[in-house]
Amino acid sequence: MWKMVHYKEIGFVNTKEMFKHAMDNGYAVPAYNFNNMEQIQAIVLACVESRSPVILQVSKGARKYANQTLLRYMAEGAVEYMKELGGNIPMALHLDHGDSFELCKSCVDMGFSSVMYDGSHHSYEENIKITKEVVEYAHKFDASVEAELGVLAGIEEHVSSEKSHYTKPEEVKDFVTRTGCDSLAISIGTSHGAFKFKPGKPIPPLRFDILEEIQKKLPGYPIVLHGSSSVPQEYVEMVNQHGGDLSGALGVPEDQLRKAASMNVCKINIDSDGRLVVTAVIRKVLAKQKGVFDPRKYLGPARDELKELLIHKNKNVLGSANRY
Ligand code: G3H
Ligand code: 13P
Ligand code: ZN
Repeated sequence: MWKMVHYKEIGFVNTKEMFKHAMDNGYAVPAYNFNNMEQIQAIVLACVESRSPVILQVSKGARKYANQTLLRYMAEGAVEYMKELGGNIPMALHLDHGDSFELCKSCVDMGFSSVMYDGSHHSYEENIKITKEVVEYAHKFDASVEAELGVLAGIEEHVSSEKSHYTKPEEVKDFVTRTGCDSLAISIGTSHGAFKFKPGKPIPPLRFDILEEIQKKLPGYPIVLHGSSSVPQEYVEMVNQHGGDLSGALGVPEDQLRKAASMNVCKINIDSDGRLVVTAVIRKVLAKQKGVFDPRKYLGPARDELKELLIHKNKNVLGSANRY
């Protein structure tokens, strides 16, 4: 039976101070999803080595895959592992794309320091209503709440949208004021997954004009960018050369994310790139070493490559390295 625990007892921080530091210094905090041990090892190793704050993200799908209790203890293990490595970086545990008040509540009760309520598929008023309920509950425990306005293109477990609906700058102030949410995920041209843009055509730039308008309406307020994998082509090729097929996979160019991070974007969500690297390395090892059947022999190199990719992101894309 699960007992309630407050995130501060575990050693997590909420995102308030993290975002203030990021805003003041022109960088974004990485939010990396994890579903298994190798991913969390890579995240902790990368963020300790590059001295970057980090948000550990758990989706509803991750909880279903790995078991919610096991995942939560893995996150607690991450705090202890970070200390064992001599690190002293701020770490938050965050629910990614929470789709109900109950799910958000259960995460706060389990020791999450931050939750996202994603009501982007609801009507504006319904989104406000449920987000506000989540905020009222989470704030009793000093946990942070991320909300979403606008819809990202792409297919997710909980919402399917063929086209994106950009966030309307004229709505953001009213939404944030009425809900009390601590950060806002917006839609400016990113999308989830590894196939973000049409192959063979120039990649359309993110809508920085919309971001600028939002910044004007909400000065100093933390903005979140979902769907921010860059889909490095070297790993797409590695997959394709070793029995896979990810032809046409494309992501958000790194320089655009760097620009967003220097603006009011304080949190950048990356999941697909981690999946891609892990898959590419596993495919390569298994293709080259036909007799391998010890999972450590392919999961280990996949983890090590993922760590290097995350260090690169912290240093060169988000600008979050060497901050602690
Ligand atoms: O935005 C979605 C995240 O990449 C999590 O994906 O629901 O397959 O775990 P998932
Ligand atoms: P990517 O699919 O681009 O990695 O986005 C992940 C995300 O937004 C998680 O919430
Ligand atoms: Zn997302």
